[in-house]
Amino acid sequence: MQYTTKTISSQAPALQLKSVSKKFNDITAIDNLTLEIKKGEIIGLLGPNGAGKSTLIKTILGLVKPDSGSIKVLEFSVPQDTVLVKQHVGYVPEHSSAYEFLTGIEFLDFAGDIFQMEQEEKKKRINEFLKALNLEGREGDMISSYSGGMKKKILIISALMHKPELLLLDEPLNTLDPKSARIIKNLIQQLSQQNVTTIIATHILEIAEAVCSRIAIMYEGKLLALGTMDELRQQAKMPNSGLEDIFLKLTGTEDVQLLVEELTK
Ligand SMILES: Nc1ncnc2c1ncn2[C@@H]1O[C@H](COP(=O)(O)OP(=O)(O)OP(=O)(O)O)[C@@H](O)[C@H]1O
Ligand SMILES: [Mg+2]
Repeated sequence: MQYTTKTISSQAPALQLKSVSKKFNDITAIDNLTLEIKKGEIIGLLGPNGAGKSTLIKTILGLVKPDSGSIKVLEFSVPQDTVLVKQHVGYVPEHSSAYEFLTGIEFLDFAGDIFQMEQEEKKKRINEFLKALNLEGREGDMISSYSGGMKKKILIISALMHKPELLLLDEPLNTLDPKSARIIKNLIQQLSQQNVTTIIATHILEIAEAVCSRIAIMYEGKLLALGTMDELRQQAKMPNSGLEDIFLKLTGTEDVQLLVEELTK
């Protein structure tokens, strides 16, 4: 695709947030969050339900307006350059019931046109993805008739087909079958070699541990931790632990067994 204005410098971080906050009435979804991510990094965004992960992703995209703070995506400022940001970013939303009235291929065609893809390239990319994700032959069916995983695959294709430089993936793998999940995981890692940056919000800790270069843990809108697995182990003072135990300690939910005992009394 052709990028219209502003060229991208390879030195600039992929993402820079300074003191970003967002409240919904009296709920603080993002609390004074500062974060910098380099190009080519794969960041696992973890946090309990309601921690603010999806709000953060939507704020980066310009879909949610922050109350304060500044956001830079590649060379672009949010919200001033939101249109350019959307051209350079691939976004898989957590939920989407939009476009159910289209067929898979109609939706992907439409998405490719929005990204101003060249027609032949668009067709080629769509066909490659449909084949890889086992959707070949189903692209002419209405999205409303797809299974949950099939709908997610269509959203993933629409996020990746225009070769974006930053991927914002909100729980992209939770409904995918193992082979498709493996393809997407490998793809993210391969793209990282080409300097494509990924932020992946997930509750599947094995994915975060296996795929991500750094892990961010959000809790009540704050960034509790951001680092490699080794750095998180140090921060949690748990030198030999896996991500699940570290996550539970940092988010204050170590007393799981006690809770279970209460519930089964
Ligand atoms: N549009 C909205 N209106 C009001 N409150 C909202 C809105 N969007 C998010 N919130 C609130 O902001 C907080 C953060 O929500 P968010 O969806 O970002 O969490 P999350 O970390 O993505 O959670 P999950 O793991 O369940 O997906 C929650 O308390 C939620 O209720
Ligand atoms: Mg969410």
